[in-house]
Amino acid sequence: MKQKIINLLEKNVEGLNREEISALIEIPPKPELGDFAFPCFRLAKTMRKAPQMIAADIKEAIGDVDFLQEISVQGAYLNFFIKKEIFVKTMVEAASAENFGGSNVGEGKTICIDYSSPNVAKNFHVGHLRTTIIGNSLYKIYSKLGYDVKRINHLGDWGTQFGKLIVAYKAWGNEEAVKSDGVGELMKLYVKFHDEAKNNPALDDEARAWFVKMEQGDEEALKIWQWFKDISLIEYKRTYDLLGMDFDYYLGESFYRDKTDDIVDRLTKGNLLTESEGAKIVDLEAYDMAPCLILKNDGSSIYATRDLAAIFYRKETHNFVKCLYVTGQEQKLHFAQVFKVVELLGNEWAKDQLIHIPYGLVSLEGAKLSTRSGNIIYAEDILLEAISKVKEIISEKNPDLADKDETAKKIGVGAVLFNDLYNQRIKDVSFKWEKLLNFDGETGPYVQYTYARCSSILRKLENYDENAAIDYSLITDAESIDLLKEINRFPQVVVDASEKYEPSQIARFAVAVAQTFNKFYNANRINIEDENLKNARVALVKLTRNTIKDAMLLLGIDCPEQM
Ligand code: ARG
Repeated sequence: MKQKIINLLEKNVEGLNREEISALIEIPPKPELGDFAFPCFRLAKTMRKAPQMIAADIKEAIGDVDFLQEISVQGAYLNFFIKKEIFVKTMVEAASAENFGGSNVGEGKTICIDYSSPNVAKNFHVGHLRTTIIGNSLYKIYSKLGYDVKRINHLGDWGTQFGKLIVAYKAWGNEEAVKSDGVGELMKLYVKFHDEAKNNPALDDEARAWFVKMEQGDEEALKIWQWFKDISLIEYKRTYDLLGMDFDYYLGESFYRDKTDDIVDRLTKGNLLTESEGAKIVDLEAYDMAPCLILKNDGSSIYATRDLAAIFYRKETHNFVKCLYVTGQEQKLHFAQVFKVVELLGNEWAKDQLIHIPYGLVSLEGAKLSTRSGNIIYAEDILLEAISKVKEIISEKNPDLADKDETAKKIGVGAVLFNDLYNQRIKDVSFKWEKLLNFDGETGPYVQYTYARCSSILRKLENYDENAAIDYSLITDAESIDLLKEINRFPQVVVDASEKYEPSQIARFAVAVAQTFNKFYNANRINIEDENLKNARVALVKLTRNTIKDAMLLLGIDCPEQM
């Protein structure tokens, strides 16, 4: 419909091209102001006439149009009223199309998303839960737009900390404890190392020596390291399974250990390396940044060196149009430095293709969690707690529900995800169970509940003919039209979310659709005698149901049929 309005304006407005016209067209806030509006302020300058007069002239020039009820001039605006029946038909048909909400703009283009990326031998904590949830949603959003998205888990699996762990394991650890307690035991060993090293600095030298051995490919060192990694991955994968998430690549920092020499070469050739206290750095003072450390004074590479290697590897392997990094905002400087170094190596693309996507902190006040030893918060425990709380609610409110466990999982996990994604990612997230699990609030369970309500309406239909033609002229009430308009925002919302890297736009849209539907449902009975009217209303229920489902999937959330 918007395209048709643009066609009309293009023919009858001087001095503006299609894109400019399109950008000016507004959707009025009130139905009295029509379905689309076009402001004429901008034309006043070039045409040297009052905008009101320009509006009146354009209206005159357009004349009668088959799909328009009327064009009215209100102040400097042209307001377009589309014939209701045509408007409704167009909206229903658009929303019924396959891959509604998506497009193929991304076809043939690859986007890498580097997210989750926990640190081996450490627990998968709530901060990593955020990058996992946001990164996964961005993956879904870009896939919906036709991009080929590579999900990359850049595990923190290399560095001096593993030298320390090996020393600690050899001194105080035992195989059984690591086998039974996994990451919990590894963390204890790590803490023990630091406690002991305070009084015994020789331990640090030993740790460094073990890391050097790792870097040189020492068999024993690598065997222990690999074992720690395997154990950690088992735990991380348990969390990913709960979340229903997966990756295309688990390529941790260790993958790049033989690729950092190349980085040093490139930097040397580019005359970018300088020496500072025995270390090798790239001076970034000209860009108001601290120097980027490349090699420590013992010659070993660091986090940044491996990130540099990863960028070139990914560019060469995937030829990405964008590579996104989802981490906490405390890594802002790190990525700014690394991206700058890539650019200084003569890669202009670094400027707009490498993108850091930061997010805010997690505060747990109010979320009473039964924590494992040492007050350490595991993401897994949060998810399990959410599921168990939902189970309680179900046994109280709907004890006969089939598939209780599966449903509780979808609702519990969904509630945590939705709570994370509902606000702009840069804002802090707080966990308050009452709020997050409130079935009437702006929450995952509320949206899921609306979905289940749609499913239930459709299940209970009597005398309903799937294939009967829909008489669009029967949909005239404000609630129905509002619902259709809301649903039809979906494609634009997905584009906006992708451009701003903001899944929150999808979450807010899902709530808006649910709210608009519930108003529609209060005003309109569905399972009625009048078959034609019933058919038309059922069409709206179906569209709502599909749209909610698809929007929630973009957040990584599944909707149960019954709850
Ligand atoms: N392992 C890091 C952490 O837990 C995150 C890695 C992010 N990705 C990257 N390419 N640096 O903080």
